[in-house]
Amino acid sequence: MCGIIGYIGVEEKATNMIMEGLSKLEYRGYDSAGIAIFTPSGICVEKTKGKLVNLADHLAQIGFPQGYAGIGHTRWATHGEPSDVNAHPHWSQDHSVVVVHNGIIENYAQLREELIAAGDTFLSDTDTEIIPHIIARYYREDKDPVQAISRAIQRMRGSYALGIMFADRPGELYAARKDSPLIVGLGQNENYIASDIPAVLAHTRDVYLLEDYDIAILNTEEIRIVDLEGNPVHREIFHVTWDVASAEKGGFPHFMLKEIHEQPHVVRETLASRLQENMDAPKMDDLGISKEVLDGLERIYMVACGTAYHAAMVGKYLIERVARLSTIVETASEFRYRDPIIDEKTLVIVVSQSGETADTLAALRMSKQAGAKVLGIVNVVGSSISREADYVFYTWAGPEIAVASTKAYSCQLAAMYLLTAHFALLRGKMTPQEFHDLKGDLIGLPAKIGEILKKEEEIKAIVDSVDPLNVFYVGRGLDYYTGMEGSLKLKEIAYLHSEAYAAGELKHGPIAMIEPGTLVIGIVTQKSLIEKTVSNLKEVKARGAQVLCITTEDADLALIQSVADQMITIPDCNWMFTSLLANIPQQLLAYYMSVKKGYDVDKPRNLAKSVTVE
Ligand code: M6R
Repeated sequence: MCGIIGYIGVEEKATNMIMEGLSKLEYRGYDSAGIAIFTPSGICVEKTKGKLVNLADHLAQIGFPQGYAGIGHTRWATHGEPSDVNAHPHWSQDHSVVVVHNGIIENYAQLREELIAAGDTFLSDTDTEIIPHIIARYYREDKDPVQAISRAIQRMRGSYALGIMFADRPGELYAARKDSPLIVGLGQNENYIASDIPAVLAHTRDVYLLEDYDIAILNTEEIRIVDLEGNPVHREIFHVTWDVASAEKGGFPHFMLKEIHEQPHVVRETLASRLQENMDAPKMDDLGISKEVLDGLERIYMVACGTAYHAAMVGKYLIERVARLSTIVETASEFRYRDPIIDEKTLVIVVSQSGETADTLAALRMSKQAGAKVLGIVNVVGSSISREADYVFYTWAGPEIAVASTKAYSCQLAAMYLLTAHFALLRGKMTPQEFHDLKGDLIGLPAKIGEILKKEEEIKAIVDSVDPLNVFYVGRGLDYYTGMEGSLKLKEIAYLHSEAYAAGELKHGPIAMIEPGTLVIGIVTQKSLIEKTVSNLKEVKARGAQVLCITTEDADLALIQSVADQMITIPDCNWMFTSLLANIPQQLLAYYMSVKKGYDVDKPRNLAKSVTVE
């Protein structure tokens, strides 16, 4: 959570560079922001509560200087409410050190007590403020910045990405990390620190991905990376190949809408990374899952959070039904604390867009420690999960900026389709002809997404015609999981209370909630289950609910129309793919509901893009 940027150069433009970088990072947290700049009279720090625009207005008002170097931060509060004083950067007691921090220092209370006993006073409620205090104490003793940072780090438990400035070293910036992403960008006579790549992409494509316990020292000419003992560490330069435009809005009013419209392209990319028309099986040889490995497994877990968890639910359903392999899906926050059975005969598949979600990363580490092999289905190249998993299946969704995950989910499902086919072929549960047919259907999938996107105006009109008090998403089989994702999206960006239920469960309690003003969205795509779901929808309609159905063009439309007040159709498709296709209208419904209510679509309240704390 939170965003960090640091800049050092030979031209006096640090404030502009930092504010520009922060604008690219605001999606990581936006309850306050701050900046620290070296000026001839020392370090100047300014910070304000609220979105970045508040900081920009404040800096303009006070005529904040430019400077040659500085650090900036956009915050998502963990310790201490959003406020000016809790915003970063934070000073040491003697104003010799300034720090910005992402992550959580778990033993901060104990360290704070220790520092207070030694005479320090604290201004904020944050865990972060202890960091400059400790560094400054060691710096006074050692006069060596790296040693001071290293000694401070060794006192701290938890996670951190740090940008650090020493008041008596105006020509240098320092960075360090553990369990929280941080990169260092290489420029011409200028260098950068950032919590993620889009913040520097307009200026450089060459970055170092810092590893845990790396300390980086930047000046205008060079970047040195050392370990906790101060020994040089070699890191390869990572060259970013994405397009700068792909990290910006590209003419759409919101990142979310842009990302929804990117889905034909990114699903095609994800499929094409492992499947070509002339292949008899998807290319999966780098995943370490041969027939022998699969036969030797006693259990498969899929572990994820939020939208990625919903993709995992679909994956489990398909792997069990098509490849006949039992698979358990769990939310990472539960999995990591319940002592699950994990050993060498276990495969753990972790699914994560960011590759940085704290609970998912912890589940990965726990699984590896217990002897399991871990396969990561990850979108962000170079992320912690991609580096620590034994094997990685990259989804090629490109940078997802909107907090609400859309294109990453579709690419995760594309990965699930390929994985299902791989497992089923290895286990002899799919014939070559069946794979051939599936391959044709997969290759046709992006065009079908494109057809659904043409219905955007129709979906917007439906949103304009409804004003529900609460919403239920119901379906059976895959349709139930599709509804879970639709419901999450509506809650997250339209702040509308909604629930997803297996249609057959309604009678066991939730039907008591149905009354006029309730909107029930029936996802009705599984041919063999249509009649049953329609019966359940009739029951809610009889109790005053308004019914909206999402179904396929080749379904029994007369039957569905007998219950639906409104209907959205998606193209006919292989039954396996409906969770992807039926979700596109769900994304647009949530998007237009949020727009209609005037909410901040890309930055919904209380949320951040990457949940790097528990
Ligand atoms: O980066 P991850 O895929 O690990 O993130 C998991 C969830 O935090 C994420 O999917 C979240 O639920 C989204 N905001 C949903 O739109």
